[in-house]
Amino acid sequence: MCGIVGYIGKRDVAPLLLEGLQRLEYRGYDSAGIVVTSPKAAGLKMVKAKGRVRDLEARVPKRFAGTTGIAHTRWATHGAPSDVNAHPHLDPENKVAVVHNGIVDNAAELRAKLEAEGVVFASETDTEVITHLIARSQADSLEEKVREALKHIEGTYGIAVMHADFNDRIVVARNGSPVVLGIGEKEMFVASDVAALVTHTRQVVTLDDGEMATLKADDFRTYTTSGASTNATPETVEWEAASYDMGGHDTYMHKEISEQPDAVDRVLRGRIDDRFSTVHLGGLNLDAREARSIRRIKILGCGTSYHAGLIGASLIEGMARIPADAEPASEFRYRNPVVDPDTLYIAVSQSGETYDVLAAVQELKRKGARVLGVVNVVGSAIAREADGGVYVHAGPEVCVVSTKCFTNTVVAFALLALHLGRIRDLSVTDGKRIIEGLRKLPGQIEEILKSEDEIEKLAAEYAGAQSMMFIGRVRGYPVALEASLKLKEISYIHAEAYPASELKHGPLALIEPALPTVAIVPDDDLLEKNRAALEEIKARSGRILAVAHQPQEKADHTIVVPKNEDELDPILMGIPLQLFAYHTALAMGRDIDKPRNLAKSVTVE
Ligand code: G6P
Repeated sequence: MCGIVGYIGKRDVAPLLLEGLQRLEYRGYDSAGIVVTSPKAAGLKMVKAKGRVRDLEARVPKRFAGTTGIAHTRWATHGAPSDVNAHPHLDPENKVAVVHNGIVDNAAELRAKLEAEGVVFASETDTEVITHLIARSQADSLEEKVREALKHIEGTYGIAVMHADFNDRIVVARNGSPVVLGIGEKEMFVASDVAALVTHTRQVVTLDDGEMATLKADDFRTYTTSGASTNATPETVEWEAASYDMGGHDTYMHKEISEQPDAVDRVLRGRIDDRFSTVHLGGLNLDAREARSIRRIKILGCGTSYHAGLIGASLIEGMARIPADAEPASEFRYRNPVVDPDTLYIAVSQSGETYDVLAAVQELKRKGARVLGVVNVVGSAIAREADGGVYVHAGPEVCVVSTKCFTNTVVAFALLALHLGRIRDLSVTDGKRIIEGLRKLPGQIEEILKSEDEIEKLAAEYAGAQSMMFIGRVRGYPVALEASLKLKEISYIHAEAYPASELKHGPLALIEPALPTVAIVPDDDLLEKNRAALEEIKARSGRILAVAHQPQEKADHTIVVPKNEDELDPILMGIPLQLFAYHTALAMGRDIDKPRNLAKSVTVE
């Protein structure tokens, strides 16, 4: 949601910023805008457009030269998507330009106050109050004007500000919404996401909450909102520009599904300890004594990450014998939860930015809980806020729906479960067995990906369905939940997931030939029970697509996947269903990488 990109240097800024905005498109947005200037120019030039970045590009006039600029992709919160509500927001004298990610909570109050003082607002946005506050400040420097304005703001922000009277600089500030500086040679960049920076520089500074920065072409300075210098030093980002390219695939989703063997290899790399049949997780910050004293584990996440957390909870409970469960972070934080000192909390997030997860982490920390992060984006807000954690090393994920990151997150949970298990009661033999299973995963995923043609044919057969049922039991149930989410997100086919054991308590009433069921049927101790569920569906003339370790007699079709250890089977059984959702959506002509109404990172409530 919402993206910021800015540049100050010697190059022609508009093409640079438009390219940067394209790299942020994946986050989801509904309008875009750009403002530019140069040291010699009088004033600021701005273009905005509702719609895509290409609509904005089409509006940019031929003469739009500048060497300093800021640009934005907006996801509407206050005010509908429109040209005027798009950022940047300028003051009436066209001196101050602001782009903003986040939400100003006291916008209505500030707007009323400013209007009473005679200020006329051009848009319905919360952001515009920041512009007017900066424009009305009597302070001598731009930094001081921004600082004064921010004193009035309650809420979250990542902002970038330009001023016609101070056109040798861009001033940025962060409180709750990411701001990353990109440090170049006689040029500086700023963005809300490294994706917009990596083609230009891999030297970055991630601002902390309460931190500001001034960017000039050959210099940058970081300081707190109260003015104290913070002297931040650049770090090198590991993700390369090429990781953001489509690499010969038609969609990012297809690329990311195909990358899973390598991605899983990465999350395992350097972590397995054969001598003690365990794993090393360097960032956990949890010694053996502390690990032994954990009485419960509570996992929090949203969307696909919540589903990864459900599988994580069953892995931890199974291997470490610690009671564990997962809950949507969005629900958890609104039910005034009892925070127990003997419970270990784990926040799961691909982006490390999801507002509901971050807010839950902050609330837990405030109450003195210990919180670990299972996160993909290194240095993201949740990773920084947590006491320690496990990076999942999936590499950048661009498609709005998560695939490789889901798989890697589950593998990261398997590592954590093995680690905790081996500190507690998991035997060396079982540790060895799990390690062998983990090592087999990349090759087995490779094997599953080879059945894509077969899955494509099946998808064509099921693409006409109005609705689909997904069932699984115990370990298979979160796999069913995630597969049904994937299908509905990108194909818009209604899909629901149920524990197979609950069929006869309700959903069986829906079963008829027009409602196909996808059943997760692993070869484990529940095989016979799962087969009984298939019988029940068949007896009502339901069509069945099974994902199993051997062909299922009662199913109309079976996708056969390789067998691993029982605990690790869920990791493999989800993968053909990613391809199934993908090919169903493709057959229906959907915009797979950017499904309607959804954003990659939901940074607001
Ligand atoms: C959004 C995305 C989902 C994602 C969820 C959590 O809703 O559309 O694909 O699973 O956010 O994101 P996170 O970055 O915290 O894993």
